[in-house]
Amino acid sequence: MSSERRDSAPGAATAPGRDVQRSPIELKTTDRRGRPSNNNGCRVQPWSFQPHIAHLVVNHQQPVPSLSDIRHWTERVHELGYSIVRTNALSRGTSRQMECAGYTVLQELVLLELNSPRAALNSAITQSGERLTTNHVGPEQIPDISAIDVDAFGTGWGLSETAVADVCAATPRHRLRGAGEPLAAFAISGRDGRQGFLQRLSVSSARQRQGLGRALVLDSLEWMTRWRVQRVLVNTAFDNHAALALYQGLGFRRIGERLRVYERTLP
Ligand SMILES: CC(C)(COP(=O)(O)OP(=O)(O)OC[C@H]1O[C@@H](n2cnc3c(N)ncnc32)[C@H](O)[C@@H]1OP(=O)(O)O)[C@@H](O)C(=O)NCCC(=O)NCCS
Repeated sequence: MSSERRDSAPGAATAPGRDVQRSPIELKTTDRRGRPSNNNGCRVQPWSFQPHIAHLVVNHQQPVPSLSDIRHWTERVHELGYSIVRTNALSRGTSRQMECAGYTVLQELVLLELNSPRAALNSAITQSGERLTTNHVGPEQIPDISAIDVDAFGTGWGLSETAVADVCAATPRHRLRGAGEPLAAFAISGRDGRQGFLQRLSVSSARQRQGLGRALVLDSLEWMTRWRVQRVLVNTAFDNHAALALYQGLGFRRIGERLRVYERTLP
């Protein structure tokens, strides 16, 4: 969950007058003979609100995609009409390959984990008795969810309605909850077996520091505890002090090396 607030995306291009392939496409890795392999691959889709930026989402980073795969994907993105390509958060091995392929770092993120969400939840409830309520979010509220996200993250990083749906679909099971009256905050959580993910957390700027973010994280931990999740992961920009204070205050600990989001301008 990247979190840097910017009012315009770095490197954002105005439309260069080319047609862009807007629907998401899947690209495969290839084996040594250039045949498509089922191991790995990436998805390419337009970046929220900036259709000339391709979001290149590397699905699995083990094994690390080869340099020739990354070059091939970049060429395809160019052929599709995009003028900039931007990745998801990548680990060290994939990052090296991206740099060899001419990509530069756009954002650095840290990964945090929480073991035993049940214990963290109990401790948080003991420390402060009062707890703000969270609410069900219906499909008709997705435009509001997108608007909250743009307000919280800025226009360069906020999620469109389609991207909200993509985040919800990123894990086998998800929970979308809101908070505030009127709706001012939301969290998307996911789980895959015993592994949980805080996928997105946004509080509108005017309602920050009023306990909504904390209430949503606690709701998410409660949901995960019900489903016997044992480990929860979240990532955030290394300098997002508000988010780090929130997560670390609830027992999350930093792990591993930094993750990186990369970008490349296409000729
Ligand atoms: C980060 C964010 C979700 C926090 O939500 P929030 O509702 O404002 O936070 P809460 O009021 O629940 O605060 C809970 C705790 O988090 C920490 N915290 C929250 N905002 C903080 C800030 N601006 N500075 C320092 N600590 C902060 C504090 O420890 C706080 O407890 P306290 O108020 O008792 O000191 C919210 O600021 C936001 O949406 N930011 C923009 C988007 C974003 O960064 N999302 C998270 C990406 S991973």
